[in-house]
Amino acid sequence: MNFRELGKSGLDTSVIGVGTWAMGGWMWGGTDEEKSIHALKESLEQGVNLIDTAPAYGLGRSEEIVGKAIKGQRDNVVLATKCGLVWHTQEGNHFFDEDGKPVHRFLGENSIRHELEQSLSRLQTDYIDLYITHWQDPTTPIEETMKTLLALKKEGKIKAIGISNASLAELKEYQKYGVVDAVQERYNAIDRALESEILPHTQKTGVSCLSYSSLALGILSGKITEATTFSGDDQRLEDPLFSLANRKVIQAFCQQLAPLASELNLSVAQLVIAWTVAQPGVTFSLCGARNAQQAKENAMAGQVKLDTQLVQNITALVDSHLKQVAV
Ligand SMILES: NC(=O)c1ccc[n+]([C@@H]2O[C@H](COP(=O)([O-])OP(=O)(O)OC[C@H]3O[C@@H](n4cnc5c(N)ncnc54)[C@H](OP(=O)(O)O)[C@@H]3O)[C@@H](O)[C@H]2O)c1
Repeated sequence: MNFRELGKSGLDTSVIGVGTWAMGGWMWGGTDEEKSIHALKESLEQGVNLIDTAPAYGLGRSEEIVGKAIKGQRDNVVLATKCGLVWHTQEGNHFFDEDGKPVHRFLGENSIRHELEQSLSRLQTDYIDLYITHWQDPTTPIEETMKTLLALKKEGKIKAIGISNASLAELKEYQKYGVVDAVQERYNAIDRALESEILPHTQKTGVSCLSYSSLALGILSGKITEATTFSGDDQRLEDPLFSLANRKVIQAFCQQLAPLASELNLSVAQLVIAWTVAQPGVTFSLCGARNAQQAKENAMAGQVKLDTQLVQNITALVDSHLKQVAV
């Protein structure tokens, strides 16, 4: 496994992080606790030490599963969780309803402190390695949010500060008050919007980037065909990324990658993940896993170092194929 420092925190962190959104069940057609725990244990077995979760993933369910999976191994894990999507109060801006509960974007001091205690209890720990504001809250000054995070860091409850789904202006505002160690943003071969503004700035200021949805919700593994179906509340039923036209384009791309992957004894998913962490400014790649097999496959991509020419060849394929994906 390859490791990199998380921002300026001194935390030596695996380039692959296991994502646990689907393990919460919500928006993914349900979850299986036993398989999820197995997947997390397999990730750790394969050398992954970065686990990313959030209270909003199943209203605490994902965090509870992570807590069970890391029991006895807590100190070997770089544990990332989030704050700012709340259902204990209706302060802030309404964002969505989950399981019949209104969830608001809110990052006020008392609320963050309340959320952190809830997360610590569900995760069965007394500290969080990377604490991330999940979505930004236009109703609370960033100064108040950042000062709260800095105070929690001083109190030893969190070790590093991250922000997610933030604009460049919001990131710069946080940085006025202290050190931001990481941003967590969507980045994958289909969506590379981050390259224009955020990544040049994070690279310049020593902020790590955790790419999320690195496999574009699984479609970049090459397994989604025109015949693939989804059920229940699985977001992929409605997501325009999964239209039949897009599936065809992405399949054609994955077919181009397949021989390159097999030359290196890799799967298409592994080659895509290895390409992602080879991009300038992308420090860690978060990959969701539903079972031990996916966890192992994704983790193994963290051992790969692609040579520069191959990275350039894949980028050329990304440019020529994936610009046609309409979302
Ligand atoms: N900060 C934020 O707002 C935010 C937003 C999104 C995600 N995240 C974080 O980033 C993590 C990763 O993103 P993501 O889960 O959205 O998407 P992703 O990693 O692009 O896709 C994950 C899904 O793809 C499928 N999959 C995973 N590995 C596979 C493999 N090797 N072969 C075939 N299929 C595979 C699985 O679903 P199926 O088996 O059902 O196909 C899995 O649930 C999340 O879990 C979460 O921790 C953060």
